Amino acid sequence: MGQGFAGDSEQYGVNNTPNPSIHEIDGERRHVLRCTTAAVALLMGSHTLTANAATAAKGKALGFTGVPVSSADALVVPPEYDAQVLYRWGDATGIAGSAATAFNADASNSWQEQLLQSGMHHDGMEYFPLDKNPRHGLLAINHEYTDDGLLHSDGMLTWTAEKVRKSQAAHGVSVIEVVERAGVWRVMPNSRYARRITASTPMQFSGPAAGHALLKTAADPEGMRPLGTLNNCAAGQTPWGTFLTCEENWNGYFATGDKPGPDEARYGMTAKGFGYRWHEFDERFNAVKHPNEANRFGWVVEIDPQDPTQTPIKRTALGRFKHEGATTTLSRDGRAVVYMGDDERFEYIYKFVSRDKVKPGGYRANKELLDHGTLYVARFDEQGYGRWLPLVQGQDKLTAANGFASQADVVVKCRQAADVAGATKMDRPEWVAVHPNTGEVFVTLTNNSNRGQGSQPARMANAANPRNDNIMGHIIRWREGKGSPGGSASRLDGDASATEFRWMHFALAGDPNAEKAEYRGTIKGDMYGSPDGLQFDAGGMLWIQTDISTSAMHKGGYKNIGNNMMLCADPATGETKRFLTGPAGCEITGVTFTPDRRAVFINIQHPGETASERGDPAQPKAVSHWPDGPTGGRPRSATVVIRRKDGGIVGT
Ligand code: FEO
Ligand code: CA
Ligand code: CA
Ligand code: CA
Repeated sequence: MGQGFAGDSEQYGVNNTPNPSIHEIDGERRHVLRCTTAAVALLMGSHTLTANAATAAKGKALGFTGVPVSSADALVVPPEYDAQVLYRWGDATGIAGSAATAFNADASNSWQEQLLQSGMHHDGMEYFPLDKNPRHGLLAINHEYTDDGLLHSDGMLTWTAEKVRKSQAAHGVSVIEVVERAGVWRVMPNSRYARRITASTPMQFSGPAAGHALLKTAADPEGMRPLGTLNNCAAGQTPWGTFLTCEENWNGYFATGDKPGPDEARYGMTAKGFGYRWHEFDERFNAVKHPNEANRFGWVVEIDPQDPTQTPIKRTALGRFKHEGATTTLSRDGRAVVYMGDDERFEYIYKFVSRDKVKPGGYRANKELLDHGTLYVARFDEQGYGRWLPLVQGQDKLTAANGFASQADVVVKCRQAADVAGATKMDRPEWVAVHPNTGEVFVTLTNNSNRGQGSQPARMANAANPRNDNIMGHIIRWREGKGSPGGSASRLDGDASATEFRWMHFALAGDPNAEKAEYRGTIKGDMYGSPDGLQFDAGGMLWIQTDISTSAMHKGGYKNIGNNMMLCADPATGETKRFLTGPAGCEITGVTFTPDRRAVFINIQHPGETASERGDPAQPKAVSHWPDGPTGGRPRSATVVIRRKDGGIVGT
């Protein structure tokens, strides 16, 4: 554990040549510069990255002062860093032409005001530089869900159509324009880029399921124009400059009324949903009246952050499940490869390989790239072998006789297709990160306390998910290429489009001294539990963010693991050091860097929340006052920017 493929290069015949970067594919820099501003921003970023990666290589990796575990209601960073709260729930988004609307500490802002303010519960986030200044850019930020106990002055004691509208307005995505001057970051007011996307924003379908009968509703008889995006969890940035936002626990917003049907049950839909109570005032979420509306969620949505008038596109070729994130890299021949986790116990890891190559010219030149290609699901075999199984209608068992008459059936019922294909049931796949130089892929498996329960062999501990009652989670790494028995080891070249791979564990999370063997970890360095957010910086250091629940901590007997945290790890050695700890009851998420690596943005999600408290207006206040302090009222999720006090590269 903790060892990389680097040391196994000889054994596996590993070729460390990286996949090409976007500007290598172009081959003609001036041509790119004539293309869209997105491509310009991307190109600027890439060149800056290269320069700074070299600088960082000279500095000491993990050179910061590690922080201890903490139970304080505070964000703690190394002493040589400072952290600035940038964008809290309720802060003005800065939309051009909108009157500034102040946040009311008693949560009395109307739903119309909420449409101009930051949503709740920030999660996945990406930074898009706008020009030559690496510290002037756009942040696209997911607002995963709402705590309606906090969102309204009297919580959920009464329930009205207005409250449903406010809850929907606090979901979705923010695009904000941010800039640093003299070490201070701020959100630009009156930005021509700023926008809010909500659970009601008009969108479009594209790809194999667009217009299919399963997507048609009374309000949209053509099955082409869904409204809104929900439970946007992790995210990704494409090489052509767009934001991919991912719909995770959308099932919880629908009420099936009676017993859910088999296809509804396969996606965790229930009679009453998770208690959002939208269906009481918005018929769309009543699955009895509108059974196909739920098929219109569970997708990856592509947003052009540079164009506030763009209609977001739901890319059905990438499959419908509880999408955690969408991490895009390039194959050797320049096609887009998107890695995606389906975050539920015993669900799968997927990848999409585009048919066509990425073209220079930003979004305008790549508008249909994610509509054509092959969707695969992962099978993790014994002894570190792995295989990508194609989910293609007509192949193997994906036939009309088995319920898959078209590729639309395959992508809408993606979980069922992956079941038929024989994929490996994983311990809740969360984020995927791709090493910027080696192409090695890392994934967090956050936890699965049900592993080992029941009698199904696929739910028992296996090679890739080795612990029953896995409350602490683990991280797997793999390298793409021909590596299976009978394959040629010399072709384990890291080409992201390969259909085979070789995997190993990077770390099993948990305290190495835990009493119960299942809860012990193999981390080389500072301990953590339930890894979730995962991102490489351009220097090749791996940033790990955690989302361990209080119930898991109690079960594990931990008194000292403390609040959720972010750590930095060296993938070559496995060495892991704690970089920050969050306030009480929060999850740490949304890690993204400026291209010069002088700033890292993170999100503090749901400060003050414990497992049983959603919807209770009294409890969260007692647990956390972050970030506004005891006199500030309600705890608020927020984007935070962290920089070294001396202006140096973060993490070194
Ligand atoms: Fe929204 Fe799987 O975390
Ligand atoms: Ca997550
Ligand atoms: Ca999580
Ligand atoms: Ca979360």
